[in-house]
Amino acid sequence: MADDERDLISGTNALELDWAGLQVERVGPRFGITPDERATLAPCICALHEQIQQERVDAAAGRSRLLRDSPDEPLDYGFMDMPARLLGVESALSQRIQDLADQLAEEADAHVVLGIGGSYQGAQALFDALLPTYFNELPRQERGNRPRIYFEGNNVDGLALHDLRQLLDVRYHRYGATPAGRFSLNVISKSGRTLETEVAFSVLRERLRAQGLQDYSRRLVVTTGAEGPLAQAAREDAVPTLPVPDNVGGRYSVLTAVGLLPAAVMGLNIRQLLQGAADFQAYCDAHPDPTDNPAWLYAALHVRAYERGATTRVLAVWTRRLEALGRWYDQLLAESLGKGERGATPLTIVATRELHSRQQQHQQGARDKVITNLLVRDPGRDVTVEGLSFDPRRAPEVVGRRLSELATLAVEATNAALNEDHRPTMNLCLPRLDEYHFGQLVQMLMNATVMEGKLLGIWPFGQPGVEAYKRRWDELLRSRPAA
Ligand code: PA5
Repeated sequence: MADDERDLISGTNALELDWAGLQVERVGPRFGITPDERATLAPCICALHEQIQQERVDAAAGRSRLLRDSPDEPLDYGFMDMPARLLGVESALSQRIQDLADQLAEEADAHVVLGIGGSYQGAQALFDALLPTYFNELPRQERGNRPRIYFEGNNVDGLALHDLRQLLDVRYHRYGATPAGRFSLNVISKSGRTLETEVAFSVLRERLRAQGLQDYSRRLVVTTGAEGPLAQAAREDAVPTLPVPDNVGGRYSVLTAVGLLPAAVMGLNIRQLLQGAADFQAYCDAHPDPTDNPAWLYAALHVRAYERGATTRVLAVWTRRLEALGRWYDQLLAESLGKGERGATPLTIVATRELHSRQQQHQQGARDKVITNLLVRDPGRDVTVEGLSFDPRRAPEVVGRRLSELATLAVEATNAALNEDHRPTMNLCLPRLDEYHFGQLVQMLMNATVMEGKLLGIWPFGQPGVEAYKRRWDELLRSRPAA
């Protein structure tokens, strides 16, 4: 960690949290933080940091799998150590993930990821953030010789599943003899019991079989927990299987085989993803003081805003590439902290797109929001404005500027307008959109969510509330059998 390249608190490689828009002189007394208040954050966070470290040690030593013996409160701290483990003691597993991904990429021209919730949102976020926006439209060579990627099994949506099946039929069904005419499947379900995913899998597996090849298992990988019906079925059919670790909850599993296999099929560098996360975790573990730790500071500031009435948490992503990451975070926050009639309501918006639909409410609606802008400092690629055709009189202000410059000024303007009306904002800035920083960012947000739970007295693991709809759905399915 001595390496400047890995310095997370300063320098060009750092995730940066700018909270000027939460300081009292900018947003007034309700949401604004005074210097005195800032000084009081540290002791409380430092004590909770120690508590988290202790619970992690206890869980890892197998002293307990549950808090207070409640199955609704699992000690799912495994995500914290997982990146370092996959780079170290469990590097054979990362290699196996890479080998299976290379096989799937070689064997087929399209790859379908089947999963829901934590078993898909991370892979979708990786796909959107780190691949070209129109990846699937590119010829194979320009895709780095990787397959097109599709996501299904994340809904009960007959229209969408029908259309994907039709696409696969049109494009691949009749030409299965060569990889260019074939597709592959990755079915992901930790419990192995999720109906949405199971139904889509059953439908598409038939299509794999219908391609008429004996050995379709070279184009199918199952990612699942050790127990459960999917694990059992995969064993019986001798399908290659990757594990979802028992001590990693679904929405915390993006940097296990759940997200890593799809990432590797896409051609992303999974070692860099893991390295970014492992570096962040090592840094976070060594820095209990929120002044030095962006995850802890992010958690403390958001909890304080929530307690002052900012019950809606807006994440404004300033590139559409991060929209799915925003939805991944929506789930992380909603399922982790939406308990006991508490927890902020997450909302992801894409700016400036949604400034033309939601900003009216953010600027003048209820004072129940804190807005965090997620920014990318160096977008890598950009477009320069070459001329204006609606109103050429604005040309001197706009022509010759890059779109990233226009966006930087729009962020500043939006924050200024909100702060002037005493509405709180923050900026979370990512140096670049690459595997290393994606790894850092998700590890930071997962750690911050755990700390927020500690600050609010809400257990961040488990999601007992989700079971209620499943139970009712099962009852209805049983009481009204298929015709
Ligand atoms: O965070 C969670 O645990 C959930 O969102 C699950 O990921 C989701 O319900 C899917 O579950 P499974 O992977 O068991 O199919």
